[in-house]
Amino acid sequence: MQYERHLTWSILLRLYHWMFALSIVTLVVTGLYIHDPWTTTVLEGGNISYPMSDIRFIHFIAGFVFTGAMLIRIFLIFFGNRQERFWDWLPLHPTGIKNLFQTILHYAYVKDDMEHKLGHNTMAGTSYLITFLVALMQIISGFYMLYPESPFWMGWGGTLLGSQQWGRFLHYLAMWWFMMFPMIHIYLCVWNDVYSKEGLISSIFNGVKYTPSNH
Ligand code: HEM
Repeated sequence: MQYERHLTWSILLRLYHWMFALSIVTLVVTGLYIHDPWTTTVLEGGNISYPMSDIRFIHFIAGFVFTGAMLIRIFLIFFGNRQERFWDWLPLHPTGIKNLFQTILHYAYVKDDMEHKLGHNTMAGTSYLITFLVALMQIISGFYMLYPESPFWMGWGGTLLGSQQWGRFLHYLAMWWFMMFPMIHIYLCVWNDVYSKEGLISSIFNGVKYTPSNH
């Protein structure tokens, strides 16, 4: 079969993806440590070793990278290429709704083939919207804890999340989404790469996807 080559993801989208992915891994590992440290208090401050301060510092740096990645994604939602804008990846129109059901049936092994769609399928898009909203909450709760003296973050954090303790609890709870989501995401990407032959995994490195040329 002949395939057509399409530049699908811009450099900015790929930069966002890797900033987001690598910061999430760092934030989950350091977040788990902050929540329940696995070193003893004897280490803390003794012999110029400060594991908790070091881990918190790494968490905050990764938090800024994560926030930067989200700002890039918000920009692309409005100003990215066709595949990167929210209208394309959400089931907000008849084609998107049809694609959602086709994808569910395809992934459930009920329907063998489905119509090609260059960007995200709308099932993936819907899960990205949830991730996007959880990420916003994570940023608000993170900065609420980081700058408790700032009127801006106190205002937004207090209004949207309640007390600092609630902010911390929701921040911790949302971490579980960021532990489960990457596992399902990677599984489905590998599955897709095997069954769909559109070059999904390589596309997040080189931006290129393929469609059958008779399409
Ligand atoms: C995927 C994103 C993130 C994950 C999974 C995550 C995870 C966590 C976890 C599990 C904790 C410990 C909470 C507890 O004590 O129970 C924590 C604490 C914290 N996180 Fe995050 N976090 C993320 C993003 C952010 C962001 C964007 C910021 C903003 C800078 C941030 C700032 C903080 C702060 C300030 C604390 C409290 C540290 C302390 O008081 O010791 N986090 N994070």
